[in-house]
Amino acid sequence: TDRSLLILPGDGIGPEVMAEVRKVIDWFGTRGITFDVSEDLVGGCAYDAHGTPLTDATMAKAQEVDAVLLGAVGGPKYDKLDFSVKPERGLLRLRKEMDLYANLRPAQCFDALADFSSLKKDVVAGLDIMIIRELTSGVYFGEPRGIIREGNERVGINTQRYTESEIARVARSAFEMARKRNNKVCSMEKANVMESGILWRDVVQEIHDAEYPDVELSHMYADAGAMQLTRWPKQFDVIVTDNLFGDLLSDLAAMLTGSLGMLPSASLGAPMENGRPKALYEPVHGSAPDIAGQGKANPIACILSFAMALRYSFDLGAEAERLEHAVNAVLADGVRTADLMGPEGGTPVSTAAMGDAIVAKLAAS
Ligand code: NAI
Ligand code: MG
Repeated sequence: TDRSLLILPGDGIGPEVMAEVRKVIDWFGTRGITFDVSEDLVGGCAYDAHGTPLTDATMAKAQEVDAVLLGAVGGPKYDKLDFSVKPERGLLRLRKEMDLYANLRPAQCFDALADFSSLKKDVVAGLDIMIIRELTSGVYFGEPRGIIREGNERVGINTQRYTESEIARVARSAFEMARKRNNKVCSMEKANVMESGILWRDVVQEIHDAEYPDVELSHMYADAGAMQLTRWPKQFDVIVTDNLFGDLLSDLAAMLTGSLGMLPSASLGAPMENGRPKALYEPVHGSAPDIAGQGKANPIACILSFAMALRYSFDLGAEAERLEHAVNAVLADGVRTADLMGPEGGTPVSTAAMGDAIVAKLAAS
């Protein structure tokens, strides 16, 4: 098969939720959609085995495959480790060396969970938008930075800095994504008050006009965007924005829909020789040490991360949709892990039972 996938379950609930993704992968295999899957260590478990949260060999493998699927890293056992070998350093090394500059955070509302949102049901029901956040530049990295002394007080300094090529490449990620979705992009910045915002708007427009004239492009100030996202989020499809605004807007958008146990993400880099972008898929949640080892974790965030891999790395959009429909159908049946229980209560199912229910729906679909 020409679809290679590296699975890095990691720590805590990582291996528990990844076991359920394995069931989904195996089911697709029975239908002739096969993956060349390898598995390796990242995070605390890699430190335990090799004295480093990510070995060079695992790093090299991640660079070669079409997609990496990661569970979660970290846990109290590793909190006292030296910073250089902390579990999250494994994840940071992957992101940095793969140069994953486009962070994808979907906000997707499954009908069965529309009541779960703090917003009105008709505002979120059926919502399916994608926020693309530039991840490797901007004010979190710009120089000069620091706290300096000026006269008799201290001054904190950060610099918002974007090069043309940094804007262009994340704009291309957004337009490519739009072509796999609904052909619509809204770019957000603050061109009214920031030089980097003016350049951002210009470059996104130029890339659009030269390479993606078929995609519908609009521009919005990021503060107005925040208002529109809570007022009527369904007006958007793909949103592309910088590192700082994307940090805020993606958290805001994610919580339009519900639980941390439901949120997938992806980080994409430059296209490889086969045209597929370098890609790392992972749930937004962490290793959840408070529930690890108890079979309580919701595997849906990790399963939906795999659905994103199907759509954006393997061009299997129909299969991704089939998987998302199976998740919605299971939720509509009232099957819930503990994190999805409302105040009215009920009996939660285990991680494995949720995975089994999703595979059963796939088989029945
Ligand atoms: P967390 O996301 O692990 O947990 C926050 C809360 O949400 C906990 O109460 C947890 O039980 C619950 N939760 C998370 N995922 C869930 C799921 N799938 N199903 C049901 N409930 C779920 O964040 P926290 O507690 O801040 O961090 C715990 C550890 O995870 C730390 O070591 C942290 O560094 C690490 N972490 C790793 C991340 C990653 O690997 N990308 C991201 C965030 C945290
Ligand atoms: Mg954040």
